[in-house]
Amino acid sequence: MAAMKIEPFALERFFAEHEFSARHLLCASDCETFSLGELLALEPGADEAFEALRLGYTETAGGPALREEIASLYKGITADDILVFAGAQEAIFVFMNAVLNAGDHLIVHSPCYQSLASVAEAAGCRVTRWPAEAGRGWALDPGDLAGLAGTDTRAVVVNFPHNPTGYLPEKERFTAIVESARSRGLLLFSDEVYRFLEYDAADRLPAACEIYENGVSLGVMSKAFGLAGLRLGWAACRNHDVLGAMAAFKDYTTICTAAPSEFLAALALRQRDAILERNLAILRGNLEALSDFFTRHEGLFSWQRPRAGPVAFPALRFAAASDDFCAGLLRDRGVLLAPGRLFGAAAEHFRIGFGRRDFRSGLEAVSDTVREKPA
Ligand SMILES: Cc1ncc(COP(=O)(O)O)c(C=O)c1O
Repeated sequence: MAAMKIEPFALERFFAEHEFSARHLLCASDCETFSLGELLALEPGADEAFEALRLGYTETAGGPALREEIASLYKGITADDILVFAGAQEAIFVFMNAVLNAGDHLIVHSPCYQSLASVAEAAGCRVTRWPAEAGRGWALDPGDLAGLAGTDTRAVVVNFPHNPTGYLPEKERFTAIVESARSRGLLLFSDEVYRFLEYDAADRLPAACEIYENGVSLGVMSKAFGLAGLRLGWAACRNHDVLGAMAAFKDYTTICTAAPSEFLAALALRQRDAILERNLAILRGNLEALSDFFTRHEGLFSWQRPRAGPVAFPALRFAAASDDFCAGLLRDRGVLLAPGRLFGAAAEHFRIGFGRRDFRSGLEAVSDTVREKPA
């Protein structure tokens, strides 16, 4: 058998080139990053405890105290239902390789964070896109599954709140998707890395692992908690055959996560109310500024205002592709926006991220450019 060949990850290659050199990073998908000092200051005695931390291997599943904290994010989930990974990315890679078999059919919410489709393809699975369209408000119709699923279908992959569109379904719609997966005996891989960033907490969906015994909920410290540098994520699942297969595969990827990351993630989860409050306040303020921007420039852009998360996926009205627009902004103003083609999506779209404190200065630079455009 040939060694695994995988498509280059278009968005990550783009970030590798520009993320750390652009003056205004306006397409990030995480919330404002915390410094180590800010995080330790959230809990009395945390800095001494951090200094005393032993830097040995940690448990493959993740330390029990950390898994308890993660489990407390869910209803009816225990520490035994949690498997910790080096970021959500590792969990995706491991699920697709350890749980699926070559030849399996997979239905993937699209456009998507590329690894949700590319890893399975590289593992020999057949992937069918489940397209979300701007014209339907980026909504997925649960009824579509009847036409997409066949006898060889093993799993459905969804991502709510969604990257890059910011789409969040109503609970009834999500439940209908879950029921459709259940009635067909499909695994539901539910990428929930933007959970807890609902602007109205009442809109938060139940986690897939809570309401479906074959649901795998993907979580991470990177997005809602603003701690991407910890590289710490998890899978939550009540089906222990799935979790066991993933744990056995992880022995060949990272074995275990970094002890400092586990310590800091547990601390952040204990203090999650303060962290989420800070991040949601930044998001809400920035979303108002973004909304004003699109109202002012209605002739140039169309957009769907998200109900959750730090990203939106507007479209240009004046060009069929956003590549030149994004390249011009980067060249002339140092503003980084992510062209839609990086998500395998309609080329006129682009991703804008508004989770960071310096968002408005970047948006101002975009305003300067578009003021020069005829409406
Ligand atoms: C939908 C989605 N899933 C997974 C990931 C990977 O998260 P991490 O970089 O924390 O591993 C991302 C990152 O952008 C994402 O947007």
